[in-house]
Amino acid sequence: MTDAETFETRLAAVADEIETTLDGLLTAAPRPGETARPERLIAAMRHATLGGGKRLRPFLVVECAALFGRSGAGVLAAAAALECVHCYSLAHDDLPAMDDDDLRRGRPTVHKAFDEATAILAGDALLTLAFEVLAAPSTDADPGVRAALVSSLARASGLAGMVGGQVLDLAAESADASPGEAQIRTLQAMKTGALITCACEIGALVGRAGDDERTALIEYGRTIGLAFQLADDLLDVEGEAEALGKATAKDAARGKATLVGLIGIDETRRQIRALVEQADAHLALFGARGAVLSDTARFIAERRR
Ligand code: IPE
Ligand code: IPE
Ligand code: MG
Ligand code: MG
Ligand code: MG
Repeated sequence: MTDAETFETRLAAVADEIETTLDGLLTAAPRPGETARPERLIAAMRHATLGGGKRLRPFLVVECAALFGRSGAGVLAAAAALECVHCYSLAHDDLPAMDDDDLRRGRPTVHKAFDEATAILAGDALLTLAFEVLAAPSTDADPGVRAALVSSLARASGLAGMVGGQVLDLAAESADASPGEAQIRTLQAMKTGALITCACEIGALVGRAGDDERTALIEYGRTIGLAFQLADDLLDVEGEAEALGKATAKDAARGKATLVGLIGIDETRRQIRALVEQADAHLALFGARGAVLSDTARFIAERRR
């Protein structure tokens, strides 16, 4: 385990690299082979992705790949692709038809800064850009690995992943009976856990991890994914809007199905602590090399932002 400051420095350094990678992907000028990049669309895509966010998912890609000695532009491109899907999910999550939020990462949400149609379309374009990046030979020289990256992100993002989870999240808002613990876990594993797990899988794929190593990283991802959403729900209750860069006390007001609403703050905290221990157990295979990922689990559990 490293100290919190060392961890934050490492997270910030990767966040900088991701910012630069995203900035390079989202140029105003068309790239070779493109006809035009509509000005308002690229501006909204840049607003949705640049200048904020913890960059936790790309950090996981980078650190999982680093376990196997892999780093560099291709890894950063794969990590940035995943962040594009995450940022699209936030832009859509904030729409009036969904959570109806005005503030994200300390700035107006995409539909507030632009308009609803542009926020929907910017999200769509970020989603498809992600797959374009994963399929590019410059991301990984091995076509089999590229196909596996595309498949992993597609599964994590869609029907049985993030989008499916968002549907369950919204359905629970208007359900007659509030969902039980098992149902809430399922929706959280899908809406948030799937992309976090995918980050670990992408790191394993670009790192050419062996089967056991890949399985361990996927299990680690599932565990911290649950902890991440529990922490998010806790922060909605007791976090500070300024540090979070988004409104708080929204979940109960909207009738969201959260574990903290069902089992309370103390029990939620206890479950988060238990998940951190489980995450460490999944990392045992890596010995001392797993230290940064172990710190990441702790960061997720204790975060204030
Ligand atoms: C917020 O994700 C949405 C959830 C899945 C809970 P993050 O807390 O990772 O948001 P950013 O990327 O740091 O803004
Ligand atoms: C969002 O969950 C999960 C997504 C797929 C975007 P929340 O709705 O709880 O995320 P915040 O609190 O708005 O960031
Ligand atoms: Mg939501
Ligand atoms: Mg929301
Ligand atoms: Mg939330």
